Amino acid sequence: MRVCVIGTGYVGLVTGVCLAHIGHHVICVDNNVEKVKLMQSGQSPIYEPGLSELMQENAQAGRLEFTSDIAKGVEHGEILFIAVGTPALPTGESDTRYVESVARGIGAHLNGGYKVIVNKSTVPIGSGDWVRMIVLDGMAERTKVPITVGGGKAVSQLIEESPANFDVVSNPEFLREGSAIYDTFNPDRIVLGSNSQKAIEMMKELYAPLVERQFANDTSLAPVPVVVTDLSSAEMIKYAANAFLATKISFINEVANICDRVGADVTQVAQGIGLDSRIGTKFLQAGIGWGGSCFPKDVSALIHTADDYGYEAELLKATVNINQRQRLIVIEKLQHELKILKGKTVGFLGLTFKPDTDDMRDAPSLILIEQLKRLGARVKAYDPIVSQSGLSHGLSNVMIETDPEMLADKCDALVLVTDWQEFLTLDYGKMSRLMINPVMIDGRNFLDRGKLESFGFRYIGIGR
Ligand code: UDX
Repeated sequence: MRVCVIGTGYVGLVTGVCLAHIGHHVICVDNNVEKVKLMQSGQSPIYEPGLSELMQENAQAGRLEFTSDIAKGVEHGEILFIAVGTPALPTGESDTRYVESVARGIGAHLNGGYKVIVNKSTVPIGSGDWVRMIVLDGMAERTKVPITVGGGKAVSQLIEESPANFDVVSNPEFLREGSAIYDTFNPDRIVLGSNSQKAIEMMKELYAPLVERQFANDTSLAPVPVVVTDLSSAEMIKYAANAFLATKISFINEVANICDRVGADVTQVAQGIGLDSRIGTKFLQAGIGWGGSCFPKDVSALIHTADDYGYEAELLKATVNINQRQRLIVIEKLQHELKILKGKTVGFLGLTFKPDTDDMRDAPSLILIEQLKRLGARVKAYDPIVSQSGLSHGLSNVMIETDPEMLADKCDALVLVTDWQEFLTLDYGKMSRLMINPVMIDGRNFLDRGKLESFGFRYIGIGR
């Protein structure tokens, strides 16, 4: 099928590349000309394992193109994905101006044949109809006919009467950064929300190779479930899924804090409850809390939507509050170990919000750095990606070290902030000897306590 993906951030680029890989002809559109040039040369603008290789392979096979010309993309695609960012505004609401501008652009270039316009961006509930309205608006602007034609008819009336040959589908994305390609080829489910049967059928055809697991090595796997819903329910599914996962993490973090006080070990507790199939073992890793580009913004947006409709989402507010408090537990633990933090040097192992990404959005490290600086401590950091890329991500108040031993040198304590795999095999013996005070606060309960203690570290986990 002919596909156009507008927006080449995490979701858009991975979606475009993977759809090309399953045999579709994909044009990815981005208004950033420099970024388009980079992608045309086969380089990925984001760090995601395996992505560049897949980009190059599919571009060479002639199934994947990049352009900054939205007209070309819209003309090409029978399915048009909107995959631009919806960052949180300071109020917690989603900033939908990029979605609006793309929808208007689609409207301005929509040509003859039937098209399916797909919302892949996480958009506020109710955005399906809104996107339809904006696309119609864009069409009206093109033909220089003001949207109020027809004797000042209501927009809803115009939508019904419009001969516009398109439908809108909500198709939320559940991929995780760092395993985005695996997640796209092996989804737990595909959610399609629309009021149009025709659009749903086209989307099913698009995803058929994934649904039938043509790319899984394991032939015993059942087909991927496809959940067909109305537009608003599909939009809600995305928010509810992220809010549930964030709540699950905040829950185990709360249990960890109680474990700390009563002398239980949260890792054992998580295993013991997780094996109950009604609970499940995933997302029960206690630590310094969740961050990233999705959980914080989506939980806030859902709280905000509830508020708009006169409902106070108390559980979700607690989920956020527990998460904010959780990050600062590291400070409490450092104060307990080192007493006065003024004049002390703290080394961070990891900066990104999770491993295998260079994403610093809402990373717990940021607030920790801010608090430690406020208390007069010096902060150094080593992160496998941030240190190597030379990108300091605006971290002017942190000394970025290029290797873990230089990080440990003359530190009063280390804090493991991100559970990068390579942190399991560092030379902790050497590192402890280089430190003033071999204290390790393991903010992800990731390291082997016995091993660290045998190297002379005082090991402090979260809730264990
Ligand atoms: C998340 C959702 O998982 C994905 O479905 C959605 O599409 C986007 O948001 P992502 O933000 O990439 O994906 O990361 P994820 O792996 O879910 O981790 C989110 C945060 O939770 C990280 O900061 C991670 O460290 C933290 N986390 C995760 C925990 O603290 N404990 C856990 O058990 C799991």
